[in-house]
Amino acid sequence: MSQPIRIGVIGAGSISEMHFGSYSKNKDVVLTAVCDLKEERAKAKAEKYEIPHVYTDYHELLANPDIDAVSICTWNNTHAEISIAALKAGKHVLCEKPLSKTVEEALAVERAVKESGKTLQVGFVRRYASNTRIVKSFMDNGEIGPIYYAKASCIRKLGNPGGWFSDVERSGGGPLIDIGVHVIDLCWYLMGKPKLKSISGNTYNRLGNRSNVKNLKFYKAADYDAAHNTVEDMANALVRFENGASLLVDVSFTLHAKKDELTVKLYGEKGGVELEPELTLITEKHDTILNSTPQIDNLSFEFVQGFQDEIDYFVEVCQGRKETISPVQDGVEIMKILCGVYESAALGKEIHFD
Ligand SMILES: NC(=O)c1ccc[n+]([C@@H]2O[C@H](COP(=O)([O-])OP(=O)(O)OC[C@H]3O[C@@H](n4cnc5c(N)ncnc54)[C@H](O)[C@@H]3O)[C@@H](O)[C@H]2O)c1
Repeated sequence: MSQPIRIGVIGAGSISEMHFGSYSKNKDVVLTAVCDLKEERAKAKAEKYEIPHVYTDYHELLANPDIDAVSICTWNNTHAEISIAALKAGKHVLCEKPLSKTVEEALAVERAVKESGKTLQVGFVRRYASNTRIVKSFMDNGEIGPIYYAKASCIRKLGNPGGWFSDVERSGGGPLIDIGVHVIDLCWYLMGKPKLKSISGNTYNRLGNRSNVKNLKFYKAADYDAAHNTVEDMANALVRFENGASLLVDVSFTLHAKKDELTVKLYGEKGGVELEPELTLITEKHDTILNSTPQIDNLSFEFVQGFQDEIDYFVEVCQGRKETISPVQDGVEIMKILCGVYESAALGKEIHFD
């Protein structure tokens, strides 16, 4: 018999629904508490998921000894602060991406993990998806060979979520830190987590949020507000690693693009992989190039199933049955890349890491 894990969810906005929904389907979980600055939002989740404790101050939730672990689904500027407080209170943490707004904050969270002996899983949900797990097993078995080039795009023609997402003070940035984080992480993880060498990045604030556009739906913050927008509308970067590999990435909230685009491609010495938009493995056999499509349920990232897989894994981590595959130190490295792109763009030149 596995020990039931008593969960508190902090932040009850849009993405929290994926956390509540996934926890509620896990038989080893007791949803115990919910907290949001907006009481009615927390109460609505408590009612829907039959959660006994409702808070508006996360400190009070963390003081509840009947909670083993928390999901943090709040604005980016609060991730580090709440993670550190939760770890100090003896809770395991599943922190939504990005780990923090700055590298310094990320390092402080890493120290808190070490001091507490608790686990912090960074919400790199795409690592837990079946298409990523399959590629990882091919990589681990040496079938793709060392990866020397990766290329990722996450382009929204229209999709600035507004509210806190477009307020740099609370978000830390625009499409790069919000959606670029996923594709950059996937590439870096599947490349074997190479050591950073240099970054050359560009950010653009040319189109604004284009909230004037009609007849197109897009993801919005729970408190959508288009009036305030201080984040970039697009970013691109070339990241070099010490092993000679490179990563080319571009992302946007708004761009005069014909359509949205999500691509993640990795090229190795023995083969290649298109992870998104649809998993394809490319190899060469008997002087012939083969494109292989695995027979699996989801060839692309499947949002609901991805969260279920991430949360089921986290619960097993809390039970001491598994080690997380997205530990705090990976969150720190990804913050170095994200902040490095912003720094390079601000300076207008390549930046180097020692
Ligand atoms: N993994 C993914 O694919 C994915 C997708 C969307 C969002 N996210 C991440 O999830 C987080 C939340 O995003 P969202 O889209 O749900 O935003 P949202 O604005 O819809 O919800 C955020 C909620 O947090 C609450 N909140 C903020 N600070 C708080 C605090 N100190 N204490 C308690 N509640 C607080 C707000 O009142 C709001 O209800 C962000 O970090 C975002 O990057 C991840």
